[in-house]
Amino acid sequence: MREVRLSPQGDFDNAALPAQHIAVHPVSAAMGAEITGVLLGSLSDAAFGELRAALWRHKMVFLRDQHLTHAEHEAFSARFGPFAVDAYTQGVEGHRNVHPLIKEADTRTKALFGSGWHTDSPFLDEPPSVTILRAVEVPPYGGDTTWADTQLAWRMLSPAMQAMLRPLKVHMSAEANMLTQERISGKPMAFATEARRVAAVQGNFHPLVRTHPYTGLPSLYVDEVYAVGIEGMTEAESRPLLDFLTRHITQAGFTCRLRWEPGMIAMWDNRAALHLAPNDYDGFRREMYRTTMAGERRV
Ligand code: SIN
Repeated sequence: MREVRLSPQGDFDNAALPAQHIAVHPVSAAMGAEITGVLLGSLSDAAFGELRAALWRHKMVFLRDQHLTHAEHEAFSARFGPFAVDAYTQGVEGHRNVHPLIKEADTRTKALFGSGWHTDSPFLDEPPSVTILRAVEVPPYGGDTTWADTQLAWRMLSPAMQAMLRPLKVHMSAEANMLTQERISGKPMAFATEARRVAAVQGNFHPLVRTHPYTGLPSLYVDEVYAVGIEGMTEAESRPLLDFLTRHITQAGFTCRLRWEPGMIAMWDNRAALHLAPNDYDGFRREMYRTTMAGERRV
């Protein structure tokens, strides 16, 4: 069968919006931008407003040389609103909303958290909006994160495909990923509590095409890790469609990639992007911390 992949052209617009308090530098044609000229620990309300607008526009923004403490990371995150529930960890001591993502140099695992294309915790009733990830120690090479723009991917589908997808609901559940990770690692997957494991496995149905609450733009809500079915369809029907959509969203032309540095902080809009953190840095330590912000029921 011929692979259905587009060579997208003509509908790219990752240009920066005018801003007075921050400088915004787009990183790829599709998405992503570097923000310079500010420190997140002492950001004015005006600069925060521009940063948030840049995030909605570019889907992922990052800043170098921030070196935030856990308290500063938590305080900056809280400017986006309440924190989301984290299914997997209880947070670090004294900062329960700051979740460690640490792989030691001598850890060898085929089942690494985040190593398939996903959106964060879509199995929740109200999945997270923004994720804010901070780098403390990074490998000399590898350990990059890549994002894919799900709004651009939607725009690049044919009108006939868009019409078919518009009324559908996708089942998001952690079960298939949990079983795969447990088979590979030979040990139970860690969840923050048993109740959160049960809820994550049960999952939720969400609109497969969603509308961004601030920009009104539609996007595809499908991923490789958690999208396990489509309401009203058999698995034989839904699986090829979900696989096609994941391949479509994650084609190189719709992505941007970040090479981490210590002190860097990146944030992304889970409503408009998927992300991937490959398991490609065995032998090196990577120490990251993340916060996730509460979202809203998908519409
Ligand atoms: C994540 O999936 O949230 C983690 C991404 C990363 O570790 O780069």
